[in-house]
Amino acid sequence: MSVILTFHGHATFSLNLNGTYVVVDPFLAPNNPMAQKTAADIPAHYILQTHGHVDHIADTAPLATRTGALVIANFEIANWLGGKGVSHIHAQHLGGGYHHPIGYVKMTPALHGSGLPDGSYGGMPGGFLLHVQEKVIYFSGDTAVFSDMKLIGDVGIDLAVLPIGDNFTMGPDDALLAVKFLRPKVVVPCHYNTWPPIRQDAQAWAARVRAETETMPVVLAAEESYTF
Ligand code: NI
Ligand code: MN
Repeated sequence: MSVILTFHGHATFSLNLNGTYVVVDPFLAPNNPMAQKTAADIPAHYILQTHGHVDHIADTAPLATRTGALVIANFEIANWLGGKGVSHIHAQHLGGGYHHPIGYVKMTPALHGSGLPDGSYGGMPGGFLLHVQEKVIYFSGDTAVFSDMKLIGDVGIDLAVLPIGDNFTMGPDDALLAVKFLRPKVVVPCHYNTWPPIRQDAQAWAARVRAETETMPVVLAAEESYTF
């Protein structure tokens, strides 16, 4: 069984699991300057929310209410979304996993912030480690590099999605270090080129990944997909 990963721009992705769609951090057009699709366009059965920043959550409530998708988020964000009209919510927290119908979904730590757009407290930021369709997929979320990524990597990751933009998250050097810690088969960069402070050359970073690691980098443009 294969998984189709589609990039929507910035840090928003969809996973197609045999027709079940999992959307990570919905930030879509016109809010997301890199996105071509809107919250009215894309299918969703599950939504994974790494943290509360607006460039990850701007379209979560519209997408969830339109599709009826189950939103998986930390407890604080889950409560906040409940106040925004989202009714189908599953709260988890860092280090906690749960066997959902799609597979085991575990929240991992991230070194970042998680304040919500209206100033509400958004709890701790996180990432997601998914065991779906016999694949292990890691979304680090917005984060600095941290050495516990070695432990996350010990699970055996098929595909990791990492920010490379610098300024708000790890930049190219630290993201390369993260690849060395995580040892995924494939890495997909995100969270770059959306705005001037996070402008990066993803192809140059991919060349460094190829030269210095066993990992295969895959650079996706908006609405491009990778099947694995
Ligand atoms: Ni953020
Ligand atoms: Mn962000």
